[in-house]
Amino acid sequence: MENYEVLPPSPGKHNMDNYDEYCKNFTWDIVEKEFSWYTTGKVNIAYEAIDRMVDEKGKGATPAIQYYDGKNETVVTFAELKAQSNKFANVLAKLGITKGERVFLFIPRSPEMLISFAGIVKAGCIAGPLFEAFMEEAVKDRLNDSAAVAIVTIAGQKNRIKKDEIPSLKHVIVIGDDEANLAPYEISYEKAMAEASDVFEPVWLAKDDPMFLLYTSGSTGKPKGVLHTHEIMTGMYHTMRISQDVKDGDVFWCTADPGWITGVSYSVWGPWLVGIPTIIVGGRFTPDNWYHALEKYGVTNWYSAPTAFRMLAAAGEDAPKNYNLKLRHITSVGEPLNPEVIMWALKAFNVRVHETFFMTETGVNMICCYPSEPIRVGSMFKAIPGVECAITDEDGKVLPPLQMGNLSLKKGWPGMMKAIWNNPEKFNEYFANEPWFISGDQAYMDEDGYVWFQGRNDDVIKTAGERVGPFEVESKLIEHPAVLESGVIGKPDEIRGNIIKAFIVLAPGYTWSEELGEELKKYVKTGLAAHAAPREIEVVDKLPKTRSGKIMRRVLKAQDAGLPVGDLSTLEDD
Ligand code: WT7
Repeated sequence: MENYEVLPPSPGKHNMDNYDEYCKNFTWDIVEKEFSWYTTGKVNIAYEAIDRMVDEKGKGATPAIQYYDGKNETVVTFAELKAQSNKFANVLAKLGITKGERVFLFIPRSPEMLISFAGIVKAGCIAGPLFEAFMEEAVKDRLNDSAAVAIVTIAGQKNRIKKDEIPSLKHVIVIGDDEANLAPYEISYEKAMAEASDVFEPVWLAKDDPMFLLYTSGSTGKPKGVLHTHEIMTGMYHTMRISQDVKDGDVFWCTADPGWITGVSYSVWGPWLVGIPTIIVGGRFTPDNWYHALEKYGVTNWYSAPTAFRMLAAAGEDAPKNYNLKLRHITSVGEPLNPEVIMWALKAFNVRVHETFFMTETGVNMICCYPSEPIRVGSMFKAIPGVECAITDEDGKVLPPLQMGNLSLKKGWPGMMKAIWNNPEKFNEYFANEPWFISGDQAYMDEDGYVWFQGRNDDVIKTAGERVGPFEVESKLIEHPAVLESGVIGKPDEIRGNIIKAFIVLAPGYTWSEELGEELKKYVKTGLAAHAAPREIEVVDKLPKTRSGKIMRRVLKAQDAGLPVGDLSTLEDD
């Protein structure tokens, strides 16, 4: 830690010019006053983010969505978004879907994805965004756990929704399908939208009524449904201003997919809440496509992830010089940002990259580097004004500086999850040490209160910034007849942070071959999702386990890295 570089603050004026000063005077009330519910008492984030921009802020003609697929561009203004989301809310009402029911989104990033998301929320229903790459089983698990009544999808993905195996599911709304192809329970999005009225009064709610349900992985069991409420708008607005430093006239591009929390908070709702368009770039990632998008839109504030930065860096320091870029503020999330990336960005763009740390469970940015403060390269700096961070031990005792422990946040900020769907025990685990929310990450603070991230303290894998539970992958692998047992870990990788590596014990009668390896990778890819598929598979005779039969993934990890395996006293006897 002694040897870190310090980068001076970014030049210019920022929304927060002095962190300590700002924290001293901050109350959440200051942010809440920005919303009309503060005086009317009528809450719906869709009203604050969309309708109000048209009705009260004169932004009807301002773009709310700028969608670019690499060739064509679609622009949806706030007035159009208001009308279209009203229509979608009316489509749901006509189907008899009411407040609190779960409606899922299984759509590649597109204006329709955002319009239906807005419509669901406006109707008071709970939206369930799904990453478009999920396959059958991942979709089924999430819809069944939450007893979803409807899902919106595209023609090309509807075969991954096994309606027969999802008893609660009544309606599948399909975008871009021929009517002749529709099953009786399927509804044409285009037809329903054409028939629907564009007038709809938002369903008025309380601040802590649910807004969306996002499934995320832990180290045990299937993914858990993290439930967020309309109150998250306060956290989104605050962090759009303070950590993303967005001001009027700025162009903000968050590259995250709306199927994950960063996308929900910063590719969809965050920009709308501050009255600016969300930029959605479809198609495949290539350095040229991304640089082109940065130039085309004149992006000033850019939010992305270390894996993406590392891929761009691999394309060369000079690549950005071919483009006319206006970048002023860059932020990063999802996995540790290596110092090399920060140094690359300084050379390539002459701009610092600011760490932001948060989780699906925290809803919005929690610990960030800010443009007005120096960066100690490798540190995440401090919690956003309004949130307190501490490093705690197993009993919830706050640890002194320089001691590693649990990265914890004092509970109760606007945007903190309200529940884990159907799983109060799991929810309570996060709050076992009141008043702290325990993140599952390890960190320490230095003497000046800067937070230094050290890694997860469970087996959750972060691959290319995406969160994967080893249990899901292991379970899928052992469904294959050739696999008797499996243990899955994250293996450090220069570009992706980690890749997924599986250790397997073959079932009797099977022998290892390259083909079998490929088959197993494909098996996970088509059953779960491409990002969850192992990139490496190693056959072993047996897996290290505890006496109670739990796979000791830390032993696999250490062995794989050629490190000492540590305490094996709980390892099972032969
Ligand atoms: C986990 C949460 C990608 C969207 C936000 C993540 C890791 C997050 C950082 C960071 C190091 C980070 C943590 C955390 N993480 N931000 N700046 N530096 N690690 O949401 O998918 O729920 O993942 O991501 O391990 O617990 P998520």
